[in-house]
Amino acid sequence: MVSSYKNVLITGATGYIGRRLKDRLLQRSDLNLRLLVRNRAKIRPDIQKRLSVIEGDSFDLEVLRQALENIDVAFYLIHSMGGGSDYARRDRLSAENFRQTCIECGVRRIVYLGGLGTRETASEHLLSRIETGEILSTAPDKIQTLWFRAGVIIGAGSASFEIIHHLTQKLPIMLTPKWVTTKTQPVAVNDVLAYLEQAIDAEIPGSQKIDIGSEATDFLGLMNAAAQSMGLKRHLIRVPLLSPKLSSYWLALLTPVPHRVASALIEGLKSETLAQNNHAQQFFPTIQPLNLNKAYEQALAELEENQILSRWCDSSAEGTCDIHGKDNLNQAILRDRRVFEYDPALQHEVFESFCALGGHNGWGAYDPLWHLRGLIDKLIGGVGLSRGRREQQALRIGDALDFWKVVDLETDKRLLLFAQMKLPGKGWLEFVMDNGTLIQTAYFYPEGVWGRLYWYSVMPFHHYVFQSMGRQIIDRARGLAQNSH
Ligand SMILES: NC(=O)c1ccc[n+]([C@@H]2O[C@H](COP(=O)([O-])OP(=O)(O)OC[C@H]3O[C@@H](n4cnc5c(N)ncnc54)[C@H](OP(=O)(O)O)[C@@H]3O)[C@@H](O)[C@H]2O)c1
Repeated sequence: MVSSYKNVLITGATGYIGRRLKDRLLQRSDLNLRLLVRNRAKIRPDIQKRLSVIEGDSFDLEVLRQALENIDVAFYLIHSMGGGSDYARRDRLSAENFRQTCIECGVRRIVYLGGLGTRETASEHLLSRIETGEILSTAPDKIQTLWFRAGVIIGAGSASFEIIHHLTQKLPIMLTPKWVTTKTQPVAVNDVLAYLEQAIDAEIPGSQKIDIGSEATDFLGLMNAAAQSMGLKRHLIRVPLLSPKLSSYWLALLTPVPHRVASALIEGLKSETLAQNNHAQQFFPTIQPLNLNKAYEQALAELEENQILSRWCDSSAEGTCDIHGKDNLNQAILRDRRVFEYDPALQHEVFESFCALGGHNGWGAYDPLWHLRGLIDKLIGGVGLSRGRREQQALRIGDALDFWKVVDLETDKRLLLFAQMKLPGKGWLEFVMDNGTLIQTAYFYPEGVWGRLYWYSVMPFHHYVFQSMGRQIIDRARGLAQNSH
């Protein structure tokens, strides 16, 4: 064990893997943990007290220097897939900056998690992940890089898990395309975290690629394991003519992921993702990866407990930029403002009531209209309503909430949601409480004439939908208060 490696930086700490790694490493009293995040508000205040947080991004060298100063081991879990079509260029630049600053600051080890697969058959997305690994590893004489490579990660909230879970749950008979027989090596998210944690201390010579995964299977195997874990019987019929494009639309319609994420995943599944080395076994002999069925059971258990630690849509990688600046309501020139009175003694219940909106809890009496809006959004390539909620009650900044994103949250005071549905403009929904008054406002910044036309055409619906929503929030708060007595 390299016991002197105590100062650890996690980048990408608001992403799917980074959030979980942060929670796991917080349990180790021998580590000083630092996070580099683009928005500090995404880290809960109680967690901020237990570690240090540097705010900024990997394109800012000064921020990187601050983040990497005195660090022994730096986790690189950043990717810019959501940052637009030039994400590969951005990821190259980000990795260059990171490696260079790590060297300047005397960091001993970079730990990176990328994807399984080879350059020759890689999808565009995987190629970018491979380039990142190559850039981080280009100076083995100056810094050690441990480059972990994982295929499909089985864990509650991962995009691939949510796709498989929803398809298996919803479709007793499935027509499956050719790519369902491409070989892949899935791995349980907790195993990924175990490797990453051990990578802090493990005695490993030089820079290494470490391929991780359990037994090889294919997409059919993944679906069968999902069906078995849920006790369901499913029939999968192969139809060679189903094109990846058609499949990606189908996935986007039936599962919580938007089309862009579905097509990236399918592109990835067109070529084999199998381990190319046995370094995981060699350097981490104490980790025995869970088999597929056990990995599913673990993920399902987390889902059933309603406490999903992180989701694929936590970061901006899902298609929109970071939430910085999304709370700037001054831009909005159109608004729908409604005021509801409540007993000031119910302050907390009213807060809990509007924080519980969305997902299975719905949006009030006009839920079918919300679903119709969500369906229209999915059909035009948006995120739709099906992302639901990460938890049934609590929210945190950065959570996806159906087609909204939580951009501000102040306990017993305010909730601000930013609209992520496709809109000819920018939209927000705000709930503010002030001693017996709930002010619920929908804000809109229209883009051009289409924006204004959109707003005025939905105004009649807003009248019913928003009025009933506010009333329902107060009624539900009264119910909560009665139940607690
Ligand atoms: N998730 C999987 O199923 C899976 C499977 C195999 C391999 N991997 C690999 O694991 C790694 C982490 O993936 P993930 O799924 O956890 O990613 P993710 O959820 O998309 O998170 C990406 C993280 O990077 C941050 N970020 C993006 N650009 C940044 C920048 N310029 N500066 C600072 N931070 C930036 C994001 O911050 P914001 O919150 O501010 O957006 C977010 O915290 C990736 O290399 C991926 O290829 C993941």
